[in-house]
Amino acid sequence: MTESIFDNHGRIINYARIAVTDRCNLRCFYCMPEEGIQYMPKKELLQFEELERLTKILTELGISKLRITGGEPFVRKDIMKFIESIHTLPHLKEIHITTNGTHTADIIPELKRLGIKSVNLSLDTLDAARFFEITRRDLFSTVYNTLEALIHHGIPTKINAVVMANKNIDDLIPLCELTKNTPVSVRFIEEMPFNGTGSHYEHLQWNHINILNYIKERFPTLSKLEDPRYSTSSNYKIPGYKGDIGIIAAYSRTFCGTCNRIRITPQGTLKTCLYDHGVFNLRDLMRNDATDDQIKGALKQSFSHRAKDGWEAEKNRETFFPATESMSTIGG
Ligand code: GTP
Ligand code: 5AD
Ligand code: SF4
Repeated sequence: MTESIFDNHGRIINYARIAVTDRCNLRCFYCMPEEGIQYMPKKELLQFEELERLTKILTELGISKLRITGGEPFVRKDIMKFIESIHTLPHLKEIHITTNGTHTADIIPELKRLGIKSVNLSLDTLDAARFFEITRRDLFSTVYNTLEALIHHGIPTKINAVVMANKNIDDLIPLCELTKNTPVSVRFIEEMPFNGTGSHYEHLQWNHINILNYIKERFPTLSKLEDPRYSTSSNYKIPGYKGDIGIIAAYSRTFCGTCNRIRITPQGTLKTCLYDHGVFNLRDLMRNDATDDQIKGALKQSFSHRAKDGWEAEKNRETFFPATESMSTIGG
């Protein structure tokens, strides 16, 4: 038995998101500028053995759900070796992956063999021209093939669609329609300011309320589902449709009260909230010969000083306030 670990607000901490790289082969405009971002030198990223060690330590502390993110996780060469090495860790109950789906289709049988519990696929549009406009790469059909292959292999799949004024509003209804015959969760996400450019909306027009109202106008019978515990999305269904629809208030931050997540960035920084500026660097601890117990102690200490919510975490930032960095360097 591992212990259960709680933060200073009584919230269980059982879900870690590890970003295995800051690199990505797309240039989604809500995540980074067209010219890309300054990637970190490879030696500054967590090395394979460091990822392995950290995952083991986290599971011993009570983390039972792991999400592998990036950048794009599958651009990292040793990613499958990493999953292979951790998938039998005794306390790790679930491994999930968030991916852009451009390098994923061929390895789906392998993901299935390794027991990957679900895949969240970033796909903001069902229109190839708009896909190009948003991601600045012409890879719509590759990603769509990945979606079909995931469904074909029976891997539970969620589509993540960031809702962007003047970009993909015409996609909201077609994405909802996709749930008619496809057993997929389509989740509409409020756009956050993590675009690597510092540009912000003064007022977020497409917030969770307006997204919901827009969908309800077209589908008045939309019915509320019971949300799974700790869900980031508020979930709905169009009666008779195979899939379901979720809305993630990522900017409005309505779900912080049950937040069970911590994050490790590609260079090993611990974030106890998406909106904080990082608590301390685990890579440096490991490279300075800290023992497992010392690392566990440092983690526990930071869990007992967690911000109440994403608003407080953002306000507490010493630098980079408000948040502006690229999502690719955070891990989503
Ligand atoms: P599930 O495990 O399926 O619930 O996935 P998830 O929603 O935790 O992860 P995913 O990587 O698919 O993220 C979907 C969107 O939710 C992204 O835009 C994330 O940045 C956002 N998100 C995930 N966790 C948090 C969080 O703790 N706070 C906020 N504000 N947004 C989050
Ligand atoms: N705002 C909201 N969601 C974002 N993502 C990336 N950048 C942003 C942003 N600025 C989403 C991607 C991916 C998930 C991990 O985060 O769509 O699916
Ligand atoms: Fe948790 Fe921070 Fe996200 Fe709120 S904004 S759910 S506290 S990570």
